[in-house]
Amino acid sequence: MTIKSEAVSRLKELSEIITKSRVAYFNYNRSDITDQEYDHYISEFAKIIAKYPELADEYKVLDQVGAMPNSKFKKVKHLTPMYSLSNAFSDKDIYNFLKQIRSFLDLSESKSIDLAFEPKIDGLSLSLIYKNGALFQALTRGDGHIGEDVTENARLISDVPLSIPVKIDTLEIRGEVYFPNSTFSELNEELKRKGGKTFSNPRNAASGTLRQFKSNKNRNKNLCFFAYSVGNAPYHLADSQAMLLKTFNDLGFKTNDISKVFTSIEELLQYYEKVFSMRTELDYDIDGIVYKVNDFRLQQRLGFRSSSPRWAIAHKFPAEMSITVVEEIEIQIGRTGTLSPVAKLKPVNIGGVIVSSATLHNRDFIRGLDNKGNKIRDGADIRKGDWVTVYRAGDVIPKIKDVDISKRNSTSGAFFFPDLCPSCGAEVKIDKTDSAIRCYNFQHCEAQVIARLKHFVSKKAFNIDGLGGRIIEEFYQKDLIQQPADFFRLESKSKHGFNFIEFLGKGWGEKSLKNLFHSIEKAKFIKLDRFLFSLGIRHIGENASQILAGYFGSWDDFYNAIKAGISKNDRHFLFEIEGIGQLMVTSLVGFFSDFKEREKLEDLLNYVKIEKFIKLSKIETAITNKKLVLTGTFNAFSRAELKSICERQGAKVLTALSSKVDFLIVGQAPGSKVKKADELGVKQIYEEEFKGLIDYNL
Ligand code: IVH
Repeated sequence: MTIKSEAVSRLKELSEIITKSRVAYFNYNRSDITDQEYDHYISEFAKIIAKYPELADEYKVLDQVGAMPNSKFKKVKHLTPMYSLSNAFSDKDIYNFLKQIRSFLDLSESKSIDLAFEPKIDGLSLSLIYKNGALFQALTRGDGHIGEDVTENARLISDVPLSIPVKIDTLEIRGEVYFPNSTFSELNEELKRKGGKTFSNPRNAASGTLRQFKSNKNRNKNLCFFAYSVGNAPYHLADSQAMLLKTFNDLGFKTNDISKVFTSIEELLQYYEKVFSMRTELDYDIDGIVYKVNDFRLQQRLGFRSSSPRWAIAHKFPAEMSITVVEEIEIQIGRTGTLSPVAKLKPVNIGGVIVSSATLHNRDFIRGLDNKGNKIRDGADIRKGDWVTVYRAGDVIPKIKDVDISKRNSTSGAFFFPDLCPSCGAEVKIDKTDSAIRCYNFQHCEAQVIARLKHFVSKKAFNIDGLGGRIIEEFYQKDLIQQPADFFRLESKSKHGFNFIEFLGKGWGEKSLKNLFHSIEKAKFIKLDRFLFSLGIRHIGENASQILAGYFGSWDDFYNAIKAGISKNDRHFLFEIEGIGQLMVTSLVGFFSDFKEREKLEDLLNYVKIEKFIKLSKIETAITNKKLVLTGTFNAFSRAELKSICERQGAKVLTALSSKVDFLIVGQAPGSKVKKADELGVKQIYEEEFKGLIDYNL
């Protein structure tokens, strides 16, 4: 497009096409063009606007929001995952954070490491993708891998530039969207006047506004955005976090003005205290401070753990507390049979969130004892009717800090922890591995079976929309679902003449049923790590599932190895996996040796398609897919860094030598492994040669 008049006529054409297809899609539920075509037109439009920004006002297609879809937002895979941060709660945790960094990088105490200090805004993270300088897409974090397309709403935020002065093919900028405190109360008053629901805090207001279907232009205008990182870029925009923030300003983004770089930890911690005490004066909520290694070269060397970077940490503010009354003590039964006591509280506001229940952890906690049998709260127990101090830290379930026995009613009695399972009546026993009180009737205890089904469809497992806790319970009680495979048989049951609507009655209609079948159908394609997690094997949580998926790569490789391991009674290969400990191995073997579990699993496997685990790195070098063992100390790297470099290039680093190992990587003072490698005929590679084989800048 060379001449402006050509640009203008193309813009006219494009606005017509885009508007028409939006109306068809949003108002009449009809797609006249494919999503790809739509995206293509939008991106062409954005490119022209980026070239002739002065036309933006006249041709407003990009920031117009038509009638928005009443279905969910489009799900889009992130170019690179959006990680979370690990948390620190004390100064000691921060010293440890640096110690680990030093050890990973093999840096001595005398070498200083600059840390960038940024407030942790309590909002929502947002990824903004610019194509050739024009805003192309805005995605929420979602589960970190797949986000929701909120482009239309994000375009209305004035802190989000619609175009930026760099014409890079794809540039992804990430940051936090928040609802300012100054306009929050106005918003709630307005909502109240209109008889609508109010938001309990600015974070919810931000989330509700950014993710509303019928966009309210005025409310969106109140949203603000701070940029803090780059998700994807063809080259480095800066050498350090501090420089990056400056670059963001040059590009037209706001960055947080409390941000600063520190060389000394003591000064950094002093600044933390200062910001903590002035936090209520800020126009946005912060729930802690993020520290990031300032130097990007060091960040790159440090890399990521399964879900968080090694180069950053969130120093959380101390939890907020309130005092209230315990109205009831209830026992909930988890999917692994644990009896968890929960205090039902008289609702109380803690730092802007209404809290009505708190965990009581276990029987000992109620009695006033910790896991080791030592007294807590001076040994005071907790009873129905007691006044308690409750606190919440982050999004986790609130906890009880203390009990005020001076206010206790003299007629109250100590809580009696049941010795029979409240759901199935089986005798409960204490589990020596974690001191939990458990119902061991795993197969038949109704509460456990239902909890496992809920887990199976939950967000981090199969993520089936429209199957809330109540529906699962109803389906279970009405005998529609007994085990996971049953979810996938529902639709064919309906096709074979079973009348769900008549059977289920209230609340169900053609549309809700169709939506449910649709989400179940969609869920059949599942990633290996999620699938492993969905099985609900004890001790195999999200993290362990990711480790296993990363190690085995495909379901077949995993399942064959497990089956072979069980039939040969060999667990050795599982112990080789870094991050998979004794308890996990025992639990995995126990699960897959159980005939009933295997039967249910085989049934399920008929319906699902388990996708291979795609490793983040696509870097292929001479060590990709090879098995390595390391020995001795290395000049250029710490053990941990070397291991992480190898893993990023697709190698498996094992601890024990065997004839299956491809290379022994030899450092200084190697020890007995060299001799063993000679005997086994394993090729040995010395550090200098090894550096030539790999790409150690990655
Ligand atoms: S950096 C790779 N910086 O905290 C880590 N995050 O727990 C990228 N957040 O999802 C995050 N302020 O929503 C970073 N200055 C800041 C932040 C920040 C708030 C949020 C963000 C992220 C969460 C991580």
